[in-house]
Amino acid sequence: MSKIVEKYAELPRPLRKPLWRIWHRMITSYDKETSTVFMNYGYASENGEFDKVKLKSEDEADKYSIQLYHHVARHFDFAGKDVLEVGSGRGGGASYLTRYFKPKSYTGLDISSKTIDFCNSRHTNVEGLSFIKGHSQDLPFADATMDAVVNVESARCYGDIPKFFSEVYRVLKADGKFLFADMIKPEDVDIINKQLEEAGFKVFEKKNIRQNVVRALKLDSEYRKSHIHSKAPKMFHKMFYQFAGVEGSERFDAFDKNRIDYWSYTLTK
Ligand SMILES: C[S@@+](CC[C@H](N)C(=O)[O-])C[C@H]1O[C@@H](n2cnc3c(N)ncnc32)[C@H](O)[C@@H]1O
Repeated sequence: MSKIVEKYAELPRPLRKPLWRIWHRMITSYDKETSTVFMNYGYASENGEFDKVKLKSEDEADKYSIQLYHHVARHFDFAGKDVLEVGSGRGGGASYLTRYFKPKSYTGLDISSKTIDFCNSRHTNVEGLSFIKGHSQDLPFADATMDAVVNVESARCYGDIPKFFSEVYRVLKADGKFLFADMIKPEDVDIINKQLEEAGFKVFEKKNIRQNVVRALKLDSEYRKSHIHSKAPKMFHKMFYQFAGVEGSERFDAFDKNRIDYWSYTLTK
C-alpha cells in the first residue's frame, strides 16, 4: 500500500478516483477527533517570510501546512473577493485563508463526497466559506466569476491537467489570479509551464520551493509521526508515513534527493 501512495500519479487514471475514495474513508474512520484538516507536505522558510504571521493557538499544530497556503496566496488580496479552491481536501487551507483574509466568498471543491461531508460539518461558522463536490475538469461555475482560484498539492492527481488549466482560465475574471502549487518531476516542469502558457496564463511569479518543503518535513516529522501513532493501527503506520512524507520515507527521500521538485506559481489571466 505504501508503494501505491508513492506511485499514485503514475497509476492508470481510472484507478485514481476510487483510490481517493478509499483514502478519504480511511482518514475519516481513524480521525475520530476530526483534527486532520490538511493533506500537504508543508512549507518552511529561513528568510523571515512568516515573521508577521501570528497564528491562533488552535492553528499552531498545522503551522507548516498553513505556511504553504500562506506562501501560495502571498500575492493576492482576498478581502471582498470571490475565490474558488479546487482539491480543497479536508478544508484546512480554505478555512485558514477565509478566517484570516476575509474573502467575500470562498468555495472549496473536491472530487470526494466523503471529504465534502467532512468539511461541511467540521468548518462551520466561518463566514463566506462553503464546500461542494465537483471535478477539476468540469468546474460548476459560469465563465469569469472568480477573482482567484487556489490549487495546492492536488493537480498532479488529475486525469487531464490541460483541461483543468483551461477550466481555471474560463472561470477566472479578467486579471484574476491562479494560485497554484504542486510537486512536479524535474523532467515534467517544462511540460507544465507550456500547458499553463497554452491555457493563456501569464506568469507573475514562479518559484521552486523544494527546499522549503524538505525543511518543513524535517521540522514536522516528529509531530506527523505522533499524530499517525495516535490515530492509525500499527499495520498502517508505514503507509501513512509515506503519505505524510516523514523523514525516512521514500517520499521524503524523493524530495530530499531532488527526484521530485515542488513549484509554486502566481499566474494571471
Ligand atoms: C493531497 S490532497 C490536498 C488537499 C488540500 N489541498 C491540502 O493541501 O490539504 C489532494 C486532494 O485533491 C482531491 N482531488 C483529486 N482528484 C481531484 C479532481 N479530479 N477534482 C477535484 N479534486 C480532486 C482529492 O480528493 C484530495 O482531497
